[in-house]
Parts: sequence; C-alpha cells; structure tokens
Amino acid sequence: MIVLTPTAEHVRQCADALRAGQLVAMPTETVYGLAGAALDPAALARIFAAKDRPTFDPLIVHVAIDLARPRLEQLRSLVEVEQLGPVARDRIERLLQAFWPGPLTLVLPRTGLVPDLATSGLPNVAVRMPRHPVALALLRAAGMPLAAPSANRFGRISPTSAADVVAELGDRVGLVLDGGSCEVGVESTVLLVAPGGGLHLLRPGGIALAQLAAVAQAPVAMGQPTQGPVVAPGMLASHYAPRKPLIMLPVAAMRIDPSTWRALHLPPHRSVGLLAMAGPGPEAARHLAALAGVPVQALALSATGDAAEIARNLFRGLRELDAGEADLLLAEPCPAPHGDDAGLLHAIADRLARASADRTGTA
Ligand code: TXA
Ligand code: MG
Repeated sequence: MIVLTPTAEHVRQCADALRAGQLVAMPTETVYGLAGAALDPAALARIFAAKDRPTFDPLIVHVAIDLARPRLEQLRSLVEVEQLGPVARDRIERLLQAFWPGPLTLVLPRTGLVPDLATSGLPNVAVRMPRHPVALALLRAAGMPLAAPSANRFGRISPTSAADVVAELGDRVGLVLDGGSCEVGVESTVLLVAPGGGLHLLRPGGIALAQLAAVAQAPVAMGQPTQGPVVAPGMLASHYAPRKPLIMLPVAAMRIDPSTWRALHLPPHRSVGLLAMAGPGPEAARHLAALAGVPVQALALSATGDAAEIARNLFRGLRELDAGEADLLLAEPCPAPHGDDAGLLHAIADRLARASADRTGTA
C-alpha cells in the first residue's frame, strides 16, 4: 500500500484510480473509509473482498453536493425522491441543511442506478456528505459518488489514521490518502427517513437524537421500524473488536472494591490492559493491580472525561492496548448520555458494547 500526502496531484492520482475501478482509502472526519466507485459493481465487489465483508452489510455512498443549492434535489440520481411524501422531503431538506457536510448518513429510497451490491439488495440507499477537506477534494476530483465503508477488516476496529489503515488492510489496497487523525473518531449517525417522514435512528453517532429531532421538528424513534422488512442490517452485536478478550467494568476502575472484582469472574490472565475514560491512568492502574495481583497498563482516553476527546481517542486506544503486553482488556463504562454530548456518549457506549460483545457465531 502506498501512503500519499494529500497534495492536489495525489488527489488527482487517486481520483484517476477510482475512475478506473480501483480502491482508495480516504480520510473522513469520522473514520477512514475504503472508497470505490459507488455505481460500478466491480469496484463494489473489490471493497467487499478487501474487507472480507459479507454482502448482507450495505455500504454508505459518499457525495459532495453544491451547498448553495437545495440539497435533496441534488441526490436524484441516487434517491427516488418521488417515493418520499412532502413531510419526508421537508424533514430531509432541513436535516441536510443543518448537518451536511458532516457525520450524518441518511437512509432513503434508492433509484435503479444504485447497484444491488451497494445496498445489499435493500430498497434504500445510505448517503452522506463528509466534511473532511481531503474527502471532499477526492469526491470532487472523481466527479462521482463513492461507496466507502470503514477501512478495516470486517468486525474489527475502525481506523482513525493512515497507519491504522495500513495495519488493517496492508496490501489489499493500493493507495491511501493521509489526512491525519480523524477529528470525530466514531462513525456517522445513521438515520432512516421513511416515505411518510418517520425518523428512525439506526446507528448512534456524533449527532444526538435531540438535535436531530429539533432540526427535523419531529420525534426520532430508536432502531428500525417495528413493521416491514429488515432495514438495518450490519448492526451486529459483535463489532469493532480487538483480538484480545475485552470485558466491560460495571463502574469506573477507582470504584471497584475486592468483592466487585471477585464478582467479575475474569478469565485467566497474566497482565491486564485498562481502557480508562478519564485520567489519571496510573492511579487507576495501581488500584486495579492491587486487586488483580498482576501488572496493569492503563490508557486514559481523556484527562478530563471530555466526550469529544474520548470519542476521538477511542479506537486508537483500543488498538494500542490490543497491541500491548496485556492478555486481557478491561474497559470502564462511558459516562451516561447528558446535555450537548448525549449523541457522542451514546455512540461511545454503543461501540464499547459491540467491542466487548460475545463473538461466538459472528464473523
Ligand atoms: O462515518 C461513517 O459512516 C464511515 C465513514 C467512512 O464515512 N463509514 C462507515 O461505513 O461507518 P460502514 O460500512 O462501516 O457502516 C455502514 C453501515 C452498515 O453497516 C449499516 O448499518 C448502515 O451503515 N447502512 C448502510 N447502508 C444501509 C442501507 N441501505 N439501509 C440501512 N442501513 C444501511
Ligand atoms: Mg464499519
């Protein structure tokens, strides 16, 4: 894999590769994506192969629209706008005005132009306009929509730097544009808008439910609609998983006493890695080491418990502990969603739950 600095010439080189059906790993503000031509089934097949991704898990189509013009209209080649009623259209337009470019993916009725492979044969397509300047430059230079799942092997930790992409995909991909560390650190919020205008949160991300509801002026339901076919595949219980076993602590490490520790019934281990939400790490490590009787290496995701900082460092921290000495990983619970940080905190808790979920029976 060749890692390229994002100069205008390198962006052009990557756009040419994409137009020729090749794959390029690109930075976005959330995580790095593995991009390919969204309307080219052969390119889409390469994405699934490079990631070892099952084809029942659909891809997000990335676009760069003209921000000065009405937004939904510009998605007509991908989205069957006629299938959406006036209430849905109005809500979508308001959401796109408020959150694009940015970490909001909308799931909308698709047109016949979108290959089945992009949507896993579902009647909807997921679309998002990223705000990372390198992603936008690449989309504009390519002049076409790009399908891009996170640039990790299926079920594993999402990459938040070009080095992470190299570690995940190695020679399975030719080119990666290095856009630095991702600013948000967790994937986009995925919101389904039904033809009648109903809103359903399919994946929590940086944008809180309350923010979505305020902008759309409508309530947002959690999860997929209870009626009708499955619309949220790919949301497997086990995902974002390190190689080592990861177990969630019931409370912050400093609050664990000997009886709580014993009740955890941890599997045999020689050394522990602790993913702490807030610092100081060394103090938590000493506290747990006294209980465990084995060395503990702690990594604090934030000095102060700031939600944006925890999100930004989450996947990097998991990756670092996974590569370290410990043979068992423990994670502190993330603070309960509150105030302006509710969306991010919800997304962090979701990723930790999936990273620590039972892996039997999943890829
Ligand atoms: O932040 C992000 O969204 C990143 C960056 C690269 O843009 N991308 C990303 O893609 O997270 P991926 O493939 O890791 O997650 C895509 C998820 C699917 O697993 C599924 O849950 C949902 O988005 N999705 C995609 N297409 C869908 C569809 N047609 N209907 C319902 N859900 C869909
Ligand atoms: Mg992913």
